[in-house]
Amino acid sequence: MGKIAVAVVPGDGIGPEVVRAARRVLEAAGARHAIEFTFEEFDWGAEYYFQHGRMMPATALDLLRSFDAILLGAVGHPDIPDHVTLGGMLLPIRRGFDLYANVRPAVLYPGVESPLAARAPGSIDMVVVRENTEGEYSPVGGFVYHHQPDEVAVQTAVFTRRGTERIIRYAFELARRRNGKKRVTSITKSNAQAYGMVLWDRIFDAVAREFPDLETESLLVDAAAMNFVRRPDTFDVVVASNLFGDILSDLSAVVTGSIGLAASANLDPQRRGPSMFEPVHGSAPDIAGRGIANPLAAILSATMMLDHLGEAGAARSIEGAVKAVLAAGSVRTPDLGGSSGTDEVAAAVVAGLA
Ligand code: NAD
Ligand code: IPM
Ligand code: MN
Repeated sequence: MGKIAVAVVPGDGIGPEVVRAARRVLEAAGARHAIEFTFEEFDWGAEYYFQHGRMMPATALDLLRSFDAILLGAVGHPDIPDHVTLGGMLLPIRRGFDLYANVRPAVLYPGVESPLAARAPGSIDMVVVRENTEGEYSPVGGFVYHHQPDEVAVQTAVFTRRGTERIIRYAFELARRRNGKKRVTSITKSNAQAYGMVLWDRIFDAVAREFPDLETESLLVDAAAMNFVRRPDTFDVVVASNLFGDILSDLSAVVTGSIGLAASANLDPQRRGPSMFEPVHGSAPDIAGRGIANPLAAILSATMMLDHLGEAGAARSIEGAVKAVLAAGSVRTPDLGGSSGTDEVAAAVVAGLA
């Protein structure tokens, strides 16, 4: 019997709704695949902030450290500025455990319609590999003349050789492992960002030489945005900086049907501590509390967790059930054109587990 200890951080808005669904599916898959899950819930987030004046306790990382993985819902509340909620919880966990590889697959599943015309099922199958610890998200900057008329804000992007090289190498290794087009696309804006992104391009070319079996392409981010729409079928592994990877993974999500399907893994490939698994989407305050959030992004994030922990059998079982529910088309949430609720979708996935 395999044992997996999961730290669960449901968070805000639809976070608790989709995490409950993912837990339910994990428990059912565990029973079939001899995995004993223990889930410990942490009530951190906006409500915790209203009570304690902070998003999570100062000891949060120590509390999380001993778990095999972290399953997170979403963070963000309309009554608290986003830089407070995200800077108080999600980003410190990513940075604190050095979860440098943010892996965001986007697949056009059979039964799901792309907003792009005439896209065949399976024709879009890419992964955005996003640098997750530095770049434009580096907590470097400040205000001068704060809140005065002549206020100045400085926000500095930091690109290190170590940080750039390790994420690019991760992308090449993933492309080699994946049963895909064996292609790595690097995305920068080195025509205008003439330091950090020039370093990135140079490192990409150097690492590419170590992987002569893989095809490569370098795109400027503006052209990449166009090409995610114009020729999404040509991408396999796409590697990008923190900010560009963030933006492009919402785009890759929607061209494959819905942000409600987009899963992600924040990985420490060196396994020095727990990695964190969470949907790409946020707390969706516009639909929170209505029981209609699509839980499949959270459920597919849970399959990424199982893969990371060496439980591929259980992961494929859940993935197969998700694909079957999507292909059948009768049980789906409104973002996919259906009228089912979160719990009905979770129940359909559980019923379809092999
Ligand atoms: P969002 O992803 O929360 O929502 C964007 C749109 O997509 C909304 O219309 C929402 O209803 C829809 N949507 C999102 N997830 C869905 C799902 N599972 N099923 C159906 N529809 C879904 O992005 P936003 O509105 O820009 O941000 C809302 C809050 O979430 C903000 O506070 C933001 O900072 C935060 N946020 C958090 C994370 C995270 O925790 N990882 C990610 C993105 C945004
Ligand atoms: C994501 C989110 C976060 C990010 C925000 C909420 C800070 O958009 O995970 O995609 O930009 O990383
Ligand atoms: Mn995002």
